[in-house]
Amino acid sequence: MSYTVPFVNARAHYQRFKREIDAAILGCLTNGDLILRQQLRDFETHLAEFVGVKFAVGVNSGYHALHLSLLAAGIGPGDEVITPAHTFVATISAIVHAGAKPVLVDVMEDYTVDPDAVAAAVTARTRAIIPVHLNGRVCAMDRLETIASRHGAAIIEDAAQSLGATFQGRSAGSFGAAGCFSFYPFKILGGFGDGGAVTTNDPAIARAVRLLRYNGEDRETGEYHYHGYTALLDNVQAAVLDVKLAHLPSWIAHRRRIAELYRAELSDVPDLQLPHFPIERQADVFQNYVVRTPSRDGLREYLKANGVETLVHWPKPVWEHAALGLGRPHLMETVRICQEVVSLPMSAETTEKQVAITSACVRRFFAERHGNCSADGHKQSAEQLLTEQQFLP
Ligand SMILES: Cc1ncc(COP(=O)(O)O)c(C=O)c1O
Repeated sequence: MSYTVPFVNARAHYQRFKREIDAAILGCLTNGDLILRQQLRDFETHLAEFVGVKFAVGVNSGYHALHLSLLAAGIGPGDEVITPAHTFVATISAIVHAGAKPVLVDVMEDYTVDPDAVAAAVTARTRAIIPVHLNGRVCAMDRLETIASRHGAAIIEDAAQSLGATFQGRSAGSFGAAGCFSFYPFKILGGFGDGGAVTTNDPAIARAVRLLRYNGEDRETGEYHYHGYTALLDNVQAAVLDVKLAHLPSWIAHRRRIAELYRAELSDVPDLQLPHFPIERQADVFQNYVVRTPSRDGLREYLKANGVETLVHWPKPVWEHAALGLGRPHLMETVRICQEVVSLPMSAETTEKQVAITSACVRRFFAERHGNCSADGHKQSAEQLLTEQQFLP
């Protein structure tokens, strides 16, 4: 179905930056720059600068960033890796494919991993912790660094959703042995297909990932050092991502503005929890604007019927997918989150008008539920706003 307020708008995004993007793609194609060329090196240099680390290595997905980082850090069979259950399945699959055992723990109300749960899960076999900086928010890295260093565990950050987010002024992807990013098209920095990168200050990790992503081969000497993978970041994707990276600070500023607008519109709605949290050591980038309510399914249906697209990350705990063989951990916050969260439209193209339409629908849904239409107060109705049809920036 076509939505009046789409969750994201890939066509509008391309149209806004078409001239620069087309020039970058045509430059690659015209010169035959397809694999491991200067555009990839340039993007890696700029990404490393942006994150504040020495090295960035482009790979073909966030999944491979995680998998190759684990291998590069020497994680393998017999090792345990602690990570939150409330994450995209790729975080956990990367651990499994490295031959290690995922140890799933719970998250806090801000959806980031609970350091107390991590500390309680450490055993003699713990070799790594993967904090997941979910929804554009960095985990409590001070406590996680303390736990990791006390037990000699590596930190591999899953920063797939948090490029540009900070904790106490330090960027996602700059804390651990490796930071792992995804450039999946709808990520905060998205390509035109799959893509990812590993960031690190450790030259040995950077070199290992560089070799692993290209069949284990050292391109200088032709020597194969590993049974590696075919996991390069394509040169054309890198050229596009380099163009987009220059715009990222303004997109982050835009997402923060949109989040503040949602907050202004919705903070007094009863039964609705917004993603603004009391401890402000983090500067979030709002990859997702996740709201939470026990009436989630009804709210979602209502928004859909009114032309507002939403997503749920994720509708059931990952361990309930029995084929994955993850046991049955007792993680109550994760269970509740899966029942209660819904992500509202949020992207670099989301407009004030779209926030107003979405918020009016949300308010109306709760007002009708409470049999109290005055909750809409001074707000325009969604229908009034929908007739105006001014959705693009
Ligand atoms: C938290 C998290 N980890 C890992 C990934 C995997 O990234 P990719 O889809 O690029 O493999 C994603 C992307 O969806 C993600 O959101």
